[in-house]
Amino acid sequence: MALLPIIVAPDPRLKKRCEPVEQVDDALRRLMDDMLETMYDAPGIGLAAPQVGVLKRIIVVDVAAKEGPRQPHQMVNPELVWASEAEASYEEGCLSLPEHYAEVERPASVKVRYLDREGETRELEADGLLATCVQHEMDHLEGLLFVDHISALKRKMILRKLIKAKKAGKHPEPAAAE
Ligand code: NI
Repeated sequence: MALLPIIVAPDPRLKKRCEPVEQVDDALRRLMDDMLETMYDAPGIGLAAPQVGVLKRIIVVDVAAKEGPRQPHQMVNPELVWASEAEASYEEGCLSLPEHYAEVERPASVKVRYLDREGETRELEADGLLATCVQHEMDHLEGLLFVDHISALKRKMILRKLIKAKKAGKHPEPAAAE
């Protein structure tokens, strides 16, 4: 397995709608394993393929407590099939927006249909942090970041700080050209 470089905003690759995966094969399984390893190393609780420069509909998530056993989810072509009317609010962060956090409201419970690492269709019912995390990662597949859910003023402030940090060489990364 290998650690993949994580793209930091602003970057055009984080604004693109991702393409569905057509075939779950060994190369895809390797990518998902690398994504999980990269996420655990960061450390984070979720990672979407565009964050490592792959514009495909793939997410990995593990919201288990750091001390407990790992509970990884690797999801291909995830689709929201149901969302509760009740909303929940969490302070969200993102590996592509390092050191920035904001309260975001989302449906408190969701049901998601996806392909697993064997290409089998599965459904996940999630609430609490897992529901928030899965929705956050699915947003990435639409080119959306958590800052797209907050006020324009706050979003601009965060992006301005990230641009400054990039100019100062704080988040070096491959090919961050705009
Ligand atoms: Ni994120």
